[in-house]
Amino acid sequence: MGLSSYASAQVAQVIGDGIVRFDRSHEARLERKPSFALVQEFDSFGDVSLEHLPVVPSYSMDSETGRTVAAIQIEEGTSLYGTGECAGPLLRNGFVTETWNYDAFGYGLGAKNLYTSHPWVLAVRKDGTSFGVLADTTYRCEIDLRGGITFRAEGGDFPVVIIDGDSPQEVMKGLGILTGTIAMPPKWAVGYHQCRYSYNPDTRVKEVVNEFRARNLPADVIWMDIDYMDEYRVFTFDPEQFPDPKGLNQWLDSKGFANVWMIDPGVKDEDGYFVSDSGDEHDVWVRDKDGNVYNGNVWPGVCVFPDYLNKDVRNWWAGLYEEFMAYEIDGVWNDMNEPAVFNVESKTMPETNIHRADPELGGTDTHDRYHNVYGMQMIRATRDGVMAANPDKRPFVLSRANFIGGHRYGATWTGDNSANWAHLDMSIPMSINLSLSGQPFVGPDIGGFAYNGDGELFQRWMGFGTLFPFSRGHTAKGNIDKEPWAFGPEVEATSRRALERRYRLMPYMYTLFKESSVTGMPIMRPTFFADPADLALRSEDDSFLLGSDLLVVTKATPVGDRVSVMPAAVDGVEWAEFDFPDFKSGRDSKDENLPAMFIRPGSIIPSAPVTQHFGDRPDSRDELTLIIHTDATGMAHGWMYEDEGEGFGYLMGEFEVLEFSAYESDREVLVRVHSAAGDLRYPDRAIKARVIGSDKPVRVEYR
Ligand code: GLC
Repeated sequence: MGLSSYASAQVAQVIGDGIVRFDRSHEARLERKPSFALVQEFDSFGDVSLEHLPVVPSYSMDSETGRTVAAIQIEEGTSLYGTGECAGPLLRNGFVTETWNYDAFGYGLGAKNLYTSHPWVLAVRKDGTSFGVLADTTYRCEIDLRGGITFRAEGGDFPVVIIDGDSPQEVMKGLGILTGTIAMPPKWAVGYHQCRYSYNPDTRVKEVVNEFRARNLPADVIWMDIDYMDEYRVFTFDPEQFPDPKGLNQWLDSKGFANVWMIDPGVKDEDGYFVSDSGDEHDVWVRDKDGNVYNGNVWPGVCVFPDYLNKDVRNWWAGLYEEFMAYEIDGVWNDMNEPAVFNVESKTMPETNIHRADPELGGTDTHDRYHNVYGMQMIRATRDGVMAANPDKRPFVLSRANFIGGHRYGATWTGDNSANWAHLDMSIPMSINLSLSGQPFVGPDIGGFAYNGDGELFQRWMGFGTLFPFSRGHTAKGNIDKEPWAFGPEVEATSRRALERRYRLMPYMYTLFKESSVTGMPIMRPTFFADPADLALRSEDDSFLLGSDLLVVTKATPVGDRVSVMPAAVDGVEWAEFDFPDFKSGRDSKDENLPAMFIRPGSIIPSAPVTQHFGDRPDSRDELTLIIHTDATGMAHGWMYEDEGEGFGYLMGEFEVLEFSAYESDREVLVRVHSAAGDLRYPDRAIKARVIGSDKPVRVEYR
């Protein structure tokens, strides 16, 4: 491979605490393309000389491919993570991937590129200190982690942003500053979601919902996949199968189910269809290299594609949601937005297509530049439309394609996985690496999308899938049923316990969403975050942390024979296993298909009674059980955030932060609960405490 170093001098400027942006040259800096990843323009605090920096990329040019290369050396013992959605182990050293959003149905281990693009690497040095590297380019970019960190991108020069931190946690917070954080979702979206391709007609939707409630299987959301549409025309409803969508949504609401409906980018190219006509009128479609409206085939046949890079088009698209949301729709699912095109080998539109992008986004240019942000800009427009239609509600948008920074607009799932053990196994590191790439609201299709699988696989996947940030069961058309009861009573019982765990842990989960929305910290974290200097944990990916205090240890092989590496004891105190008693029997029966849960020494995890859904027992706020595991000094701490779970009152002080502390003396465990921030108060609630490994009397003081 021919490499030639650039002659002109590389420049670097400080743009934040420990955050430096590099450009290949002074000229490259002046011609820098607008960033989609960064949440804002970052003013420079001034130039810095390269000698003073701990990590410096070296730029060169690959004369064979014409790609710009930025390479970062790593010290021996440095572990690499991130790079977004990758099909393989957590530890990314030695792997090569590429950013190119791709409709990867049926993907396998080692796939080079999947649905989303995150040109970002998190590096953890031997001693646990860390740095992160962002190649701030939307173009196709190879991320080569054989040896060091090398980005090879099309499209000319690109800046590299490096965040230096004492720990990977510090670096993740830096990424939160750079790329922004998630907004608080509606609380129902933190519950369990049930989906399939498709529940149709509407009577089937009701049947599924009735089963959940009749069987006491906690769930908050039911999803409408494409078959609700009138011949796959977006923003329409099949008059026969879904004659009364508003009535259906109201019925669902009466059952405590929120609803999410799918909208794809491909618009059927058809005279007389209002979206097609209105789009023609407003001249919104992506064009081909000759300036003609581009056509490609997706579900409805020949389609046209909105050019979301353009502000007027985004406004037009957002406007379509006014009428749509008026059917009392709660959330929107944007799929196929790589964008997927069926009738071409590349499975997407030609790279020569033309986008009339806003000047602030880079102006008119070809698809190769904007491909990876097409989905991101689609959900940006969708979110705007949903918010304009329902200004008092928190929007929920799920997207299949995305780009680093796109977590600001929506959640992401890992696309069309398969119902087999390799995919079950992979779903854990894939979700962790996405989390480490700045996408905290993430999860796979629980149970697997393609193929049937069996009850064994399903119950294991449900067992830990209910503890993913985004927790949704889904399956493809033509497959067997995959609701929790579909595999018989035993699998149903395991699924119920798994779901009940999520709902018991809701106060903790919701607090993690809050933390993420403030600091950018992932919700799901790698086990090595427990001790970044412990090299033994670096490739552990059958287990994961939720927040910093809860460790989930799964069995990701059929026989469950792989042994997870546990974080070391802290000053002689081990992480302690705990579980919730079975809701019905009150007994502590062990279910081998559920992952083991461990609590960190010195921490307090708040839990609630089981509810069937978010609105089930508003008074569940009045009861809390604190799970406490004291450290070597007999102390433990924790906190919890709560608000109304919907709306924006929380931005005006309508929330409460509780702080917990516990102290174990010779005689008793004293637990103090203290309202630390916010205007809301729930002072009369019952607060119980369960101290792991202690039978001393517990006294709870609420102040
Ligand atoms: C795509 C999605 C899948 C969905 C299907 C039909 O394959 O990834 O989740 O069910 O399209 O809309």
